[in-house]
Amino acid sequence: MRILAIETSCDETAAAVVEDGRVLRSHVVASQAAFHAKYGGIFPELAARMHVEAIVPVTREALSQAGLSWEAIDAIAVTYGPGLPGSLVVGVSFAKALAFARRKPLIAVNHLEGHLYAHRLRVEGNPPEDLPTPFLALIVSGGHTELIWARDLLDHRRVGWTIDDAAGEAFDKVARLLGLGFPGGPAIERIAREGDPQAFPFPALPKVDDPLWFSFSGLKTAVLRAVERFQGQPLPVADLAASFQAAVVEQLVTKTLEALRRYEARAILISGGVSANQLLRSEMARRAPVPVVAPPPWLCTDNAAMIGAAAELHARAGRFASLDLEVDPDAKI
Ligand code: KG4
Ligand code: ZN
Repeated sequence: MRILAIETSCDETAAAVVEDGRVLRSHVVASQAAFHAKYGGIFPELAARMHVEAIVPVTREALSQAGLSWEAIDAIAVTYGPGLPGSLVVGVSFAKALAFARRKPLIAVNHLEGHLYAHRLRVEGNPPEDLPTPFLALIVSGGHTELIWARDLLDHRRVGWTIDDAAGEAFDKVARLLGLGFPGGPAIERIAREGDPQAFPFPALPKVDDPLWFSFSGLKTAVLRAVERFQGQPLPVADLAASFQAAVVEQLVTKTLEALRRYEARAILISGGVSANQLLRSEMARRAPVPVVAPPPWLCTDNAAMIGAAAELHARAGRFASLDLEVDPDAKI
């Protein structure tokens, strides 16, 4: 089965063709990051407008890279949520129009399921086998900080989440505070290599009612207070970045390991933009009692290949969407 998948939930316009949920025939991502950089974050109105401009050429390119005509496509998959409402509407409207015009079945995919099943694609850097179930997934990006317990394929439950900012959002906000530009995660990771992670004792573990809840607002305020104390003097940016990054990683790893104590799991998956962070990968691998798997970075950031991989599971289970499909910006997994 060949699925044309479309993803527009945030600031990447993406299309891909995936065969049998495993084989990536083509994969195109038009990132808007450079355009949002001057606003220091994602500007939703601009994101929606740029999806409108990019979606047709990106989809054409995905079909042409796959060397396929419309006849060879069996279904169209699209992310219906969670995400930015205006951005989601562009992808869903376009996918519905394609499904109608080309008489193809439509498959609705939850964006987080995409992150969960990207690891099933047979591409370099992915594990040679599917993750054994049950497994635990930590999905960390600019929009998400979720711990998901996957008991079986398409049988998963959210067990932990953030009560304020997403982990990537915290990286982006602190990077802005330190004058490091957007997106902040890679910039912080780079400069943190020259810093001392113990220079500032930032609070790693927030006071929350449930140990599986994440919170980054206290940490962000602590960095702000530290910055304010330098009042015009040169900031020790590398030390601040390294101490902040260490606190974020400590929180992410500690809570994932706590989830592992509560829920039986045979592996840990980390995905989302923040999973590109080397300290997070190495600390998780060092401390977890089960194998830690992360897809290659290009599959961890938003893309349509992962949506095609998840869509195939829905198709096999006979779960198709109707042309009444609506976006759900707050969709839960
Ligand atoms: O998954 P993604 O590309 O887009 C969504 O937010 O959905 O994730 C982007 C986020 C940004 O907040 C960015 O700062 C963060 O991932 N990020 C990182 C790293 N690379 C990207 N955070 C920490 N360390 C990194 N190396
Ligand atoms: Zn994502």
